[in-house]
Amino acid sequence: MTHTQPPRSLDRFGLQPPSDGAAANQRRPTLDGWIPIRDLHARHRRRILDHLLQLDERDRYLRFGFQITQDQMARYVASIDFKRDEVFGIFNRKLQLVAVAHLAAMPGQGPHGDSSRGRAMEFGVSVLESGRGKGLGMRLFQHAIMHARNQGASHMMIHALSENAPMLRIAAKAGATVERDGPDAEAWLKLPPDTVGSHIDSSLHSLAAEVIYRVKYRVMHIADWLRLIASA
Ligand SMILES: CC(C)(COP(=O)(O)OP(=O)(O)OC[C@H]1O[C@@H](n2cnc3c(N)ncnc32)[C@H](O)[C@@H]1OP(=O)(O)O)[C@@H](O)C(=O)NCCC(=O)NCCS
Repeated sequence: MTHTQPPRSLDRFGLQPPSDGAAANQRRPTLDGWIPIRDLHARHRRRILDHLLQLDERDRYLRFGFQITQDQMARYVASIDFKRDEVFGIFNRKLQLVAVAHLAAMPGQGPHGDSSRGRAMEFGVSVLESGRGKGLGMRLFQHAIMHARNQGASHMMIHALSENAPMLRIAAKAGATVERDGPDAEAWLKLPPDTVGSHIDSSLHSLAAEVIYRVKYRVMHIADWLRLIASA
């Protein structure tokens, strides 16, 4: 961890500042717009797989880049190394996992396979149809930027199909360089170094998201319990 402050021109996610006022409002989440993003762990594998199984064939193709079978998705989820990588999720009011992001370490990899460019992390994401277009994909991307910086990564990489306009839009908005090669595209985002602030932000976000989830969980179960008593 370094203690260097980011240049003034970067926002708290380490993104370039927007060029107009409207975009600025979109990129700077207000308190009202804050979304709890919860850290997911090995015990959440089943829920991650359930989330992925809810994607239709096209979304699975966009997420993984090929026609993945259910068995292959199960193997992918079973193989996630939660000690090395980071996985985050957004839960809806019913505590269903509507969005999942996987930030995977790519040791020694920079753009163009150039190991001298430092450590890179690959970002993969999926948002269920019901949650699309509300900025969840972008929030997860910003969250991943903060975590990748705190892990000491110099770049974040997104491998997407060239036809995947929403994903490439999210990456390009954050300032990533998008390279298209036929049906495939790679977006590389150079990250500023971590700061004390980025570590504090990350810890506070994680803590707040966990507390909110647990409170919602208890409220839901008390409500179920009360309904059961009322119907007895
Ligand atoms: C890609 C994905 C995660 C985006 O999730 P989302 O929550 O809907 O994304 P957001 O709402 O944060 O933002 C999407 C951006 O793309 C834009 N967009 C949406 N559809 C678009 C289209 N057809 N063409 C161009 N831009 C489009 C939106 O307007 C928004 O940009 P804006 O903020 O400037 O308005 C979601 O579509 C998904 O899960 N797709 C299937 C899996 C996948 O493709 N994963 C990515 C590969 S790793």
